[in-house]
Amino acid sequence: MSTTADFGITLTQHVMRKQVLHPSARGQFSTLLTQIGVAAKHISAQVRRAGLIEVLGATGETNIQGERVQKLDHIANDTFMKVLRRSGTVAAMASEEEDDVYYVEPHRRGDYIVAFDPLDGSSNIDVGVSIGTIFAIYPRKHDGEVTLDEILRPGHEQVGAGYVIYGSSTVFVYADLEGVSSFTLDPGVGEFFLTRDGLTYPKTTSILSLNECNEPYWGPWVTPFLNQIKGRNDEKGRRITDRHIGSLVSDFHRNLIKGGIYLYPVDHRTGRGKLRLLYECNPLAFIAEKAGGAAIDGQQRILDKPLTQLHQRTGLVIGPQDDVDLARRTYARYMD
Ligand code: AHG
Ligand code: MN
Ligand code: MN
Repeated sequence: MSTTADFGITLTQHVMRKQVLHPSARGQFSTLLTQIGVAAKHISAQVRRAGLIEVLGATGETNIQGERVQKLDHIANDTFMKVLRRSGTVAAMASEEEDDVYYVEPHRRGDYIVAFDPLDGSSNIDVGVSIGTIFAIYPRKHDGEVTLDEILRPGHEQVGAGYVIYGSSTVFVYADLEGVSSFTLDPGVGEFFLTRDGLTYPKTTSILSLNECNEPYWGPWVTPFLNQIKGRNDEKGRRITDRHIGSLVSDFHRNLIKGGIYLYPVDHRTGRGKLRLLYECNPLAFIAEKAGGAAIDGQQRILDKPLTQLHQRTGLVIGPQDDVDLARRTYARYMD
């Protein structure tokens, strides 16, 4: 009789196993990912307890973008900063909840720059709906003091990106240069276990995901594009359905697993989008592309967009390659 327990591969084991394939690596990337996993477990525990320990509700403060900050936003931000600062793998961090770049003390500095949205979808916190953390990882460009050009750089320079969903289970998804893997937290063991390796974006769109109440503010290309997608429904059976959570990271995760396209077009009155390029769109675009999907702002590839401000906003269309291309062609027809 075998006495060997049947359990899966942990996040730490997975990243260490991959590190072995790169003998020249110093191991900091692996450590960084496992430390992000530690931060995610702390945040997950706080989110699960939110209703009990009265951390729900707004603090009354506003962040740099004039939005009300929820208490859990603060907690998630502090947790992420503290864990990564101590990890010895990060030289600077940029966060949605911090006005400026945080520079790690010289003796703790590591090889990477991390940008993150500590809690995405925070309007969903107090109604028990899925929220998440999104992160982007960049390599340092040089030794010594961190310079702003190491932070303000296009998304294609990322070497890793990921997110954690605090939903019906806590799910950790990350992409490195080789592909996308997902892990699920076993709350009894306190470990993330590998659930999918080599995740690929479904080729067909079956879900349409956006805030349709913004229609008056869309440019003229959006409605014709949506009509092309919706027009695939016919009497033979439903093929496209609408799903929108209002938490980008949760909407993206569902679409990645089930095959959906998410849109948050720019407001044609201001020419600005809502979502932030550095710590929302770039990491999700990196993951989408590594899985075989695509992401544009309407016309331009998200990962090629120049970044000039920390909290810069952009339009976003993210989903299966063919339908993102259709969006680009529709944009060109109506906008050029
Ligand atoms: P955050 O909670 O980090 O500020 O991000 C909110 C974002 C995103 O998660 C969501 O999809 C979008 O805002 C929803 O915006 P609308 O309420 O305008 O639809
Ligand atoms: Mn967000
Ligand atoms: Mn946020």
